[in-house]
Order: sequence, then structure tokens, then C-alpha cells
Amino acid sequence: MSVTTPASRAAAPPSSPSVGALPQDFGALVRQDPEISGILLAEAGRQSSTLQLIAAENFTSPAVLAALGSPLANKYAEGYPGARHHGGCEQADAAERAAVRRAMSLFGAEHANVQPHSGSSAVLAAYAALLRPGDTVLAMGLPYGGHLTHGAPGNFSGRWFEFAGYGVDPDSGLIDYAQVRALARARRPKAIVCGSISYPRHPDYEQFRAIADEAGAYLIADAAHPMGLIAGGAAPSPVPYADVVCATTHKVLRGPRGGMILCGVELSERIDRAVFPFTQGGAQMHTVAAKAVAFGEAAAPAYAVYAHRVVANARVLAAALESEGLEITTGGTDTHIVVADPAPLGVDARTARERLVAAGMILDTCALPYGDARGIRLGTAAVTTQGMDEDDMTRIAGLFGAAVRAEGDPGRLRAEVRGLAEHNPPYPG
Ligand SMILES: Cc1ncc(COP(=O)(O)O)c(C=O)c1O
Repeated sequence: MSVTTPASRAAAPPSSPSVGALPQDFGALVRQDPEISGILLAEAGRQSSTLQLIAAENFTSPAVLAALGSPLANKYAEGYPGARHHGGCEQADAAERAAVRRAMSLFGAEHANVQPHSGSSAVLAAYAALLRPGDTVLAMGLPYGGHLTHGAPGNFSGRWFEFAGYGVDPDSGLIDYAQVRALARARRPKAIVCGSISYPRHPDYEQFRAIADEAGAYLIADAAHPMGLIAGGAAPSPVPYADVVCATTHKVLRGPRGGMILCGVELSERIDRAVFPFTQGGAQMHTVAAKAVAFGEAAAPAYAVYAHRVVANARVLAAALESEGLEITTGGTDTHIVVADPAPLGVDARTARERLVAAGMILDTCALPYGDARGIRLGTAAVTTQGMDEDDMTRIAGLFGAAVRAEGDPGRLRAEVRGLAEHNPPYPG
């Protein structure tokens, strides 16, 4: 596939924003479709001139983007390697076998399914493999950081299953395992889900396993967020404890947008059938190839260094935000996630996010584990990929505090954020 060349960069229309090196040859697109190429170039400009602090985002490598833009995007390959409904699947089979082999080796799993289109598709398939509609499931309650697939009323999970939600201790912000155990005893769930969109600490998988065994429940780890840290040895692995591990392949793992499932051999057939043909048709084979590339990258020693830096940066960011006067849930982080309550600065989370976005700091609001007010969720995966270090985190926290307090000249603040981002381009030329 095409790689960045000076010629491909020169193909950008003169009015394009400065985006540094583009990861792929946009020449054909620029020539053929100015409207869409203009949008993509503007997005590249947005990503390289602002700080991406959304905890679920990252910058995939040019190699991952090349696989995504490859001719495997044209291929239909319903089924599994060696058992497809379509002809001409030799290379698709090879790509999927490589992705499965690499995922199993990276995570020490007996079986991997790399076909789920997304994290939600992976969770859907796990439920389809293990549960019947109407079954009771215990998962982190949405107000405490549970995902939509953990029982939200508007999601298939809330519609088709009876969810009971566990929470966190109101003082420490940590998972209340006594409550999980009590709920498991009272509700006798068919499955217990551990995983969250905003919990900044490691779940105690051993304890979850013990509670699930006591209740006769399956344990499903929804490790969408920590999967990249697990790959890099910067977080404990649920693989030895959970019956099924669901994850996304983007976020810290830095692969293409998509999902994956790990399990033991005894559940492998049920999981595979739950993915295809139960919940999905043909897998996106270009994405499967890109997942293989990302798993290859995550197995390299440099990725372990990256994963540990992500956590070190998040710890420094959490401490520096606390010094700026924000309240940090659980008092810090063990992961890439920091959840901050801006209330002590006299600002609600939505106003804070607007001010931060205006200054070029892109992040989310999220539920706080106490009260009705929302907090700010940040992540360090993308800025760490850009090469930012602990000093940069302290600087980001200072810019964050100034933006939330609406201190100083907004133009100067935006210029400082832009300078920091552009000094660390996601795709250096
Ligand atoms: C814990 C958890 N589960 C599932 C998902 C769903 O992933 P997707 O958006 O790819 O469907 C997410 C995404 O943020 C998540 O954080």
C-alpha cells in the first residue's frame, strides 16, 4: 500500500490546513473527491493541532492505516478460515489466522475470535453465547461507569436481560466487592460482568472469579479500556480468571476500530457461532488484517515501554490536576484514565468541557460515582503515542486549569495548546 511521500503531501489542495505528514497517499482521493478529501484533511488538521484527551482514542500507526486501506476491504469472507461461504478467501484466511495466532500469543489465551465489528458486538456475542433472553446479569451500574452494553435501557442489553448494577464505595470510589458478593447471592445471576468506561483502577479479577464461582455464574471481563495496558504488561490480565474476555482493538491497544473475544477451548465453538452467524455476517477482512498488524506491534518491546508510559503520564496528570484544585475520583489512577470533578473550581462538567474544547483540549464528560453532577474523563493514550512525557502532562494540567477557570487570554491559551500539539505531531514527516 501507499506510504507517505512528499508527492502525496503535495497533492493536498493549497487551502488545506497544515497537518504534518499524512499517514497515507491521499492523492487519488484529493483528485477525485474534493469535498470528502477536504473533510479528511481538515480532520487530520484538527487531530494534529488539538490535544486528544478522550480516554477511548489513540493514533494508529501508518502500518495499521495501510492495512485498513488495503484491497482486503473488497473481500467478502463469511465464515472462518478454511470454512468460508465465498471463494477466493486464501489471503483473507491467512490474514485472519495471523490475527488469531497473534492475539492468542499476545494475551496467553486458548482461543481468540477477531471478527467482532466493535466492542459492543463482542459483548453482544458473549451474551449470545452464554445467556438466554431474560437471564439475570450483574454488572457495574451505569451511574458508576458501566458501559451501555451493561444494561442501559436503550441498549440490547437492557432490553433483553435483567441487569442488576453494583457500585463503588462512596468514600474511596473503589468497587465495593462486599456489595457485588451480596448482590450475587441475592440475585443468582447467570453472568457477572467486570469492566467499565471510567473506572481508573484495576478490577480484582481473582475476587470477581470467586464471587462468580460462589453464585454459579459465568465471569465476563469487558476489558475494552485496559486491553492495551494488559498487552504491554502494565495492567493485570483477566484471561486466567474470566470465562470470556471482550475487548476493543482500538483505545490503548492502538489498533483499528473493532472488537475481539478471548476464551478457553471449551467455549470456543459457542463464541465463534455467536459471532458468526448469530450476530454478524461477513467480517471486515481489512480490519482483521489491521488487527493482526496492531497485535504484532503490541508484542514488540517498544509497546511495553509505551503502555507503562501511558500509566506514568496518567498518574502525573491526575496529581497535577489535583494541584489545580480538581477532585480526582479514587484519588488517582492505575490506568490511562483520569476522572476529575471540576466542582471545586465552581464550574459544572459541561461548561468545563466547552471551555476546554475551545482551548483545544478534546475530552468527554462522564458520570461521577456520587451525586448527580458529571465529571470530566481524560486519557493519556493518544498524547503518549505522540511522545509527550510527564513534564508535558504537568503543562497540560496547567492549561486545563486555566481553561476551566476561564483565566487569561483565550487566544493565547489556544495558541499554547496548539504549540504543544504541533510540537508532537501524531504522524511526523
Ligand atoms: C467497557 C466498554 N465496553 C464496550 C465498549 C464498546 O465499544 P464500541 O464503541 O467499539 O462498540 C466500550 C467503548 O468505549 C467500553 O468502554
